[in-house]
Amino acid sequence: MGTYTIAVLAGDGIGPEVTEQAVNVLSAIGQHYGHTFTFHKALVGVAAIMAEGDAISDATMELCQQSDAILFGAVGGSARYEGPNSKVQPERALFRLRKGFELYANLRPVRPFNALINASTIKADVLRGTDMLVVRELTGGLYFGKPSEIRTTAQGTEAIDTLIYTEAEIERIVRTAFDLARGRRRKVTSVDKANVLSSSRLWRQVATRIGEEYPDVELEHLLVDACAMHMIRRPNNFDVIVTENLFGDILTDEASMLAGSMGMLPSASLGTRKTAHGLFGLYEPIHGSAPDIAGQHKANPLAAILSAALLLRYSLGLTQEANAIEKAVEQCIDEGIRTEDLREAGKPVANTEEMGQQVIAALTHIAV
Ligand code: IPM
Ligand code: MG
Repeated sequence: MGTYTIAVLAGDGIGPEVTEQAVNVLSAIGQHYGHTFTFHKALVGVAAIMAEGDAISDATMELCQQSDAILFGAVGGSARYEGPNSKVQPERALFRLRKGFELYANLRPVRPFNALINASTIKADVLRGTDMLVVRELTGGLYFGKPSEIRTTAQGTEAIDTLIYTEAEIERIVRTAFDLARGRRRKVTSVDKANVLSSSRLWRQVATRIGEEYPDVELEHLLVDACAMHMIRRPNNFDVIVTENLFGDILTDEASMLAGSMGMLPSASLGTRKTAHGLFGLYEPIHGSAPDIAGQHKANPLAAILSAALLLRYSLGLTQEANAIEKAVEQCIDEGIRTEDLREAGKPVANTEEMGQQVIAALTHIAV
């Protein structure tokens, strides 16, 4: 029995709808296992820009600092704040959180549920056995490199972004990947563009050097374009994939289609900061704010709920409870409960709230 503090930053679009279900599931876990979760809600993204003048306020950063973990929904998706001329971008909230708390390791597990194998656009035979963990570097590369600007020169307007990585940044993320591979099938695929980019050549050198410290783990290097191809050609051949920030962003949207829907993929962003119970982290579904379906009760809350499971596992050290949520989700999927994104001909569709309630109902039988 424990007492835990969780910062809840639901954000924009479908963020609040799916996060609410994740919070409900956590509350149910609290009841079943006798834990007390204190949820501190705060604004991020467009909602925060409108109410507080910035995508995330200093007070909200402080609130996160005081918490054991952050449960995050999604930000962005408002036409008002898109585009190069917008002064404050809602995504800034994410970047400030990631950088501010040095959450450099973004873990995105991709394991299609058996019952959803036909929901993917990829053939079942190709998919079967797929169980990969993408470890995306999250605080470096093009997202944070300076300069990054549109500027006017004598020759006209130009734009620049900077892809920079230090050896130390590469080393720590590659190490994370190897350590995680040891608890899995002991294979690391390091993804780069070493035939073109200097940053990738350093990446490959460092990955090779660190790999020597892990003789029990197989290391494979793939160019990012080839990786994108192999991901749908032989997805079950991957174990841990480690890559830089932008490559990881793109590859994980691709990988989400292996799981049938973006609405199924959770993520954990971790650094080195410890809490009393585990590693401080931020947990979010990878799907984003999906403004086109916001407020329609259609969104799939499972990625958010599975993110809450990762929160229990990594930040609170509550393994049994995390397993219970994952099992409850799997049970619901096995029973044929589907949200709109996974609609199957002739089967009823659950809305966001119903899906959350079904997971809670399944938990009642699983929790001991
Ligand atoms: C993600 C998202 C973000 C990213 C956006 C919203 C800035 O796509 O977490 O994958 O690019 O990192
Ligand atoms: Mg993305």
